[in-house]
Amino acid sequence: MAPWTRLALVPLVAQAVLVSPMPDADPDTVELNRRDAAEGYNSPPFYPTPHSGWESDWTAAYEKAQQVVGNMTLAEKVNLTTGTGFYMGPCVGQTGSALRFGIPNLCLQDSPLGIRNSDHNTAFPAGITVGATFNKNLMYARGRALGEESRGKGVNVQLGPVVCPLGRKPRGGRGWEGFGTDPTLQAFGAAYTIKGMQSTGTIATIKHFIGYEQEMYRMSTVLTKGYSSNIDDRTLHELYLWPFAEGVRAGVGSLMTAYNSINSSAASQNSKLINGILKDELGFQGFVMSDWLGQYAGVASALAGLDMAMPGDGAVPLFGDSYWASELSRSVLNGSVPVGRLNDMVTRIVAAWYKMGQDKDHPLPNFSTNTLDKTGPLYPGALFSPSGIVNQFVNVQANHNVTARAVAREAITLLKNEDDILPLRRNDSLKIFGTDAGANPDGLNSCSDQGCDKGVLTMGWGSGTSRLPYLITPQEAIANITKNAQFYITDSFPSDVTAGANDIAVVFINADSGENYITVEGNPGDRTVAGLYAWHNGDNLVKAAAEKFSNVVVVYHTVGPVIMEEWINLESVKAVLVAHLPGQEAGDSLTDVLFGDYSPSGHMPYTIPRSESDYPASVGLINQPFGQIQDTFTEGLYVDYRYFMKANIAPRYPFGHGLSYTTFNISSPTLTQVTALDSAYPPAAPPNGPTPVYNDAIPAASEVAWSSTKFTRIWRYLYPYLDNPESITASGDYPYPDGYSTTPKPRARAGGGQGGNPALFDVSFSVNIEVKNTGSRRGKAVAQLYVELPSSLGLDTPQLQLRQFEKTKELAPGQSETLTLTVTRKDLSVWDVEVQDWKAPVNGEGVKLWIGNSVADLPIVCTIGEGCSSQ
Ligand SMILES: *[C@@H]1O[C@H](CO)[C@@H](O)[C@H](O)[C@H]1NC(C)=O
Ligand SMILES: *[C@@H]1O[C@H](CO)[C@@H](O)[C@H](O)[C@H]1NC(C)=O
Ligand SMILES: *[C@@H]1O[C@H](CO)[C@@H](O)[C@H](O)[C@H]1NC(C)=O
Ligand SMILES: *[C@@H]1O[C@H](CO)[C@@H](O)[C@H](O)[C@H]1NC(C)=O
Ligand SMILES: *[C@@H]1O[C@H](CO)[C@@H](O)[C@H](O)[C@H]1NC(C)=O
Ligand SMILES: *[C@@H]1O[C@H](CO)[C@@H](O)[C@H](O)[C@H]1NC(C)=O
Ligand SMILES: *[C@@H]1O[C@H](CO)[C@@H](O)[C@H](O)[C@H]1NC(C)=O
Ligand SMILES: *[C@@H]1O[C@H](CO)[C@@H](O)[C@H](O)[C@H]1NC(C)=O
Ligand SMILES: *[C@@H]1O[C@H](CO)[C@@H](O)[C@H](O)[C@H]1NC(C)=O
Repeated sequence: MAPWTRLALVPLVAQAVLVSPMPDADPDTVELNRRDAAEGYNSPPFYPTPHSGWESDWTAAYEKAQQVVGNMTLAEKVNLTTGTGFYMGPCVGQTGSALRFGIPNLCLQDSPLGIRNSDHNTAFPAGITVGATFNKNLMYARGRALGEESRGKGVNVQLGPVVCPLGRKPRGGRGWEGFGTDPTLQAFGAAYTIKGMQSTGTIATIKHFIGYEQEMYRMSTVLTKGYSSNIDDRTLHELYLWPFAEGVRAGVGSLMTAYNSINSSAASQNSKLINGILKDELGFQGFVMSDWLGQYAGVASALAGLDMAMPGDGAVPLFGDSYWASELSRSVLNGSVPVGRLNDMVTRIVAAWYKMGQDKDHPLPNFSTNTLDKTGPLYPGALFSPSGIVNQFVNVQANHNVTARAVAREAITLLKNEDDILPLRRNDSLKIFGTDAGANPDGLNSCSDQGCDKGVLTMGWGSGTSRLPYLITPQEAIANITKNAQFYITDSFPSDVTAGANDIAVVFINADSGENYITVEGNPGDRTVAGLYAWHNGDNLVKAAAEKFSNVVVVYHTVGPVIMEEWINLESVKAVLVAHLPGQEAGDSLTDVLFGDYSPSGHMPYTIPRSESDYPASVGLINQPFGQIQDTFTEGLYVDYRYFMKANIAPRYPFGHGLSYTTFNISSPTLTQVTALDSAYPPAAPPNGPTPVYNDAIPAASEVAWSSTKFTRIWRYLYPYLDNPESITASGDYPYPDGYSTTPKPRARAGGGQGGNPALFDVSFSVNIEVKNTGSRRGKAVAQLYVELPSSLGLDTPQLQLRQFEKTKELAPGQSETLTLTVTRKDLSVWDVEVQDWKAPVNGEGVKLWIGNSVADLPIVCTIGEGCSSQ
């Protein structure tokens, strides 16, 4: 999402004025784009929106919500569906309120790694760093800490985690916000984050739904519409939807749509995706919000299943114009949006609020995302605004720096370590190079939304960031440990450096990217100029050091895949550590590993290629001169390692790779069948239970009359009220789209629970393994399980797919731990597009489960029905 900072406001408005509103009469926008749409890719209509509240985990919350919504006026209902406008309150977005029922303006706030634009918060490691830990406990702990901080600041809805982008495009700007380029890694990252966050009473938001893999051309302007991601049904289910399904299964309370279109139908009004796949097939019980300015129509988005418009503004922000707010009131009074649809929107929102216990002692916002000052305008977006105390500087950090450091440390991935050059000894003579080891010379947080690459790279840029409360740089942390380090905080190799025979050069380089509303060093979010190379001539810095020193250690802070070919095989480049995006604990987490207090235990959450041409051409950044950009996902399931294996391309470092200072041996695999897979398709789930029933008659127009209120309106603030609403009459004249219906459809065959048919998540098999530390140092091992599906399924399927992983505790030399790796029915299934259900090999026949240290190092194999062997 992209709530722009005030600094970025001018370009934002300029961009927004160019937005061409899509006519309401064109709900799925297929018509508008037929000329441009990619052949064969369209999005079929799916109406009406399935109602929620039938899932047993949510029953109590829906019962409470029903009592409240049943008594609400139209104005109260509309209030909760629509933001009050850009800069119209303390948070990046807030709804209107329904104070008669104790429901305040709900505060929605970035980001997935910490509270954005605030103070006394923790700046956690980014999603990609979390993925690299392969540690479920840390995923949960970080989610919980994030939720505690949100709650402490009075946030109701935190805008994370991110599982889309999936990282399909190596140059894409926001892949680092998610957990890695594999749906299972993303799924575990999201599910544990959500569970942790929501255990504190903060509503989590899984985003961005869906097909959002590139920054450029994501939004609509007069010149072109946001690009269309054209995705076939099987690829959608097996790759991009997979982590969303697991997020829904984890009980996520809200979901954010993407900016782009899918099959030429905008994500925020794509009825097939929101009504059909999300709310019917995946049984989503929470509410769906638009991304900031990613709503493109009023009635159409309501009918397609959108529940909340954020930040509420219409095509032209900041002028008090909205697709919803008073226009939603009008759409209900004129009969275009059925009252039942509005009731479902509001019930979903209120139920999520009750589900997380926000009716009890949830603090009101005590911070402002708009300013760091103590006092200021309460509604900075208004021309005239009352002022008051907006920041109470509540310290919400507790001991979260411990979790932040643990995540950053456990993510550090050792790619290479010749001659055991690492760990460093405290008496080694060190020469440290690169601005990436130091501080931002312009000052901490001097670049708005981290929109620059200065000093150590702690996170990418954009809305998915937070301010750093403090930063321990690698330079500070190293200097704190050893007196034998000399620092050259420069990116051009100094000519006057002398290299002693035993000196070790440690070279810090980085690669940055971010969100499209900020361009950094020519890169508009995506890495257009930088490509997959290090920034600031970092590759040259490594080469220069390697020429002079015979021992070089490279530390790489990066948002995603980078090419190391210019130096990786140089004789003196002995070791490479990828430290990902570590957040505020950049320095100490690194020295923990560099000096051997901990062995590295991170694993690559994506592949390191040898060349950009190793990827299929279809995952390059895309532009086209006329019409809506059509980005057709022709590589299908073959993203990242799935493609490298299919094309038989050896990567530089495979997905999942990561070394340690010690060694591990995996042995004694035993395979157990848990739930029999005695049918290809899962047994059907029972029909969905009942959902709240309301009086769905059109309410009295007086409920939204300005004359019924007593307060003075704030100019540009978004309200539900209308002048003279009595003049509005209901008519059947609305040009509903083809396929529009108010008659509920039978439930999708694959549905029946949160995330889909509960039988999909029955554990089919489990494998026990023994992991032994066979080396001489303490360390943690990660066991990764990949499935190989049999050709009997009759579909071209990636050779290996990660479906499970576990990490050991820290094992002393000689110590062992038994790990249990489970796979579900869904893990062994393919999406059958004809039957519209998940299809598994009966009894698991022909399935192989491979276990090991990376996708290219799998010493254990268990063949269903035959047993396991180890190499
Ligand atoms: C997009 O079009 C493809 C190709 O026809 C189809 O398989 C898929 O289901 C469509 N997806 C959506 C969300 O409409
Ligand atoms: C209105 O609220 C009262 C008190 O909570 C409740 O008993 C009643 O059922 C509610 N009415 C509707 C229509 O939900
Ligand atoms: C709608 O929300 C606004 C605050 O955003 C509040 O002033 C107004 O009273 C609310 N309306 C109703 C009917 O509760
Ligand atoms: C009802 O109002 C909405 C919002 O202004 C508008 O888009 C829609 O066309 C109207 N419907 C009719 C039938 O006039
Ligand atoms: C701000 O947060 C603190 C601590 O969470 C809480 O005690 C206080 O009530 C909050 N402020 C407001 C205005 O709710
Ligand atoms: C972490 O936070 C604790 C408690 O606030 C503090 O005592 C400690 O110094 C912090 N650690 C670092 C490295 O800043
Ligand atoms: C550095 O310390 C180690 C012991 O930790 C010792 O064996 C080695 O000789 C020392 N090297 C130098 C150069 O002092
Ligand atoms: C410096 O080292 C001491 C002792 O190991 C440690 O307690 C402290 O947190 C370190 N400070 C920084 C800034 O790394
Ligand atoms: C490692 O495990 C294999 C069995 O998987 C066994 O044959 C081998 O001896 C073990 N090696 C060590 C060093 O324990």
